[in-house]
Amino acid sequence: MCLAKFTDKNESTCVHWYRLACLTIGVVQMILGMMELNRIIRGDCIESLKRIPDNSVDLVFADPPYNLQLKGELYRPNNTKVDGVDDGWDKFGSFREYDDFCAAWLAGCRRVLKETGTIWVIGSYHNIFRLGSVMLDLGFWILNDITWHKTNPMPNFLGKRFTIAAETLLWCSKGEGRKKYTFNHKLMKRYNGGKQMGSVWRIGLCTGAERIKDASGKKAHSTQKPEELLKRVILASTKAGDTVLDPFFGTGTTGAAAKKLRRNFIGIEREEGYIEIAQKRIDGITELWEEADWAEDEKEKRVKVPFVNLVKDSMIKAGDILYTNGSYGAAALVLENGSLKYNDSTGSIHRIGAMIQRTPSCNGWKFWYAVKNDKALLIDDLRNEYIRKYHGVQ
Ligand SMILES: C[S@@+](CC[C@H](N)C(=O)[O-])C[C@H]1O[C@@H](n2cnc3c(N)ncnc32)[C@H](O)[C@@H]1O
Repeated sequence: MCLAKFTDKNESTCVHWYRLACLTIGVVQMILGMMELNRIIRGDCIESLKRIPDNSVDLVFADPPYNLQLKGELYRPNNTKVDGVDDGWDKFGSFREYDDFCAAWLAGCRRVLKETGTIWVIGSYHNIFRLGSVMLDLGFWILNDITWHKTNPMPNFLGKRFTIAAETLLWCSKGEGRKKYTFNHKLMKRYNGGKQMGSVWRIGLCTGAERIKDASGKKAHSTQKPEELLKRVILASTKAGDTVLDPFFGTGTTGAAAKKLRRNFIGIEREEGYIEIAQKRIDGITELWEEADWAEDEKEKRVKVPFVNLVKDSMIKAGDILYTNGSYGAAALVLENGSLKYNDSTGSIHRIGAMIQRTPSCNGWKFWYAVKNDKALLIDDLRNEYIRKYHGVQ
């Protein structure tokens, strides 16, 4: 009896400690998991991926080394050196070494990807065929190959081949039969101005104010991607609040786009200098993209008000000037029929806004400002005033 009591008590103590241990491990895993969100992990991606739990991320975007195999330096006809990709991180001893490296990081990405998740891998003709082959061998299932048509490519200085004006993005699910992945078809149609989006994306190289420079004015990173590219990737294949993993974070374009669209990110990058640049870039983001609030099944609940109604009501007059915010710094003239005139172009507030931003579409209501009593007012606020006046509170 005494022994039985002792054993029972011992057993229940064991169970108690076991449960406590499990709970502690669970809490620690949860905290670790949470700690990784919206953070850049410093290290080699194959090793760092091991810190991320199985089936935990919704999307992977990977822009891996190209393995360009450049031999010697390239000069323009005027003898200036071409600023190409000759970084140490892009060098591999052989195709075999490159393939083994890709198989290792891609297998890590596949493990951490949820069953409903998808992966995007970008590359040039140097590496995309090898990447595609490795991905198929690992079991990934290609959903689309997207051509990024560069609208301002670098010329072929030697004149020996065609100008290389494209890169390819492979978009894959975790495997054949995984049908429940996210694809925001309606949302992308809306983003594309009401037309179904195709698999050729015309986007310029990352230049101008978007291109991050070092103290001497040189490009801080040789392969910084345009935010517009990542915007489309994330908008098409995630929902707000999802987690996007980028194992080759570079300047943090994926993190910046994720933050501007209310998604979480996990970045992995080996070089401390790039991590600093990426962190500063992401910390400096104060404005989200308006698409951050778009959802696939969202219905337009607002009363539709054509811009011309505001002109007819003299809230904005023909001949007034509308302005954009500081990043675009443009001005357009309001015409009597509610169109805008900008340089030689005439069109709706949306069309001219899209033209200035060089995006497929634009919500002009959230892009243009009118000046009233020396104050800049977003025309969306004037639209709200109009709706309150004629349709009651919305
Ligand atoms: C093609 S760039 C990515 C550029 C990035 N998409 C951007 O927009 O800035 C590849 C990046 O991967 C990093 N990298 C290369 N090998 C790596 C590895 N094994 N682990 C982690 N990062 C690596 C490089 O330092 C480089 O910044």
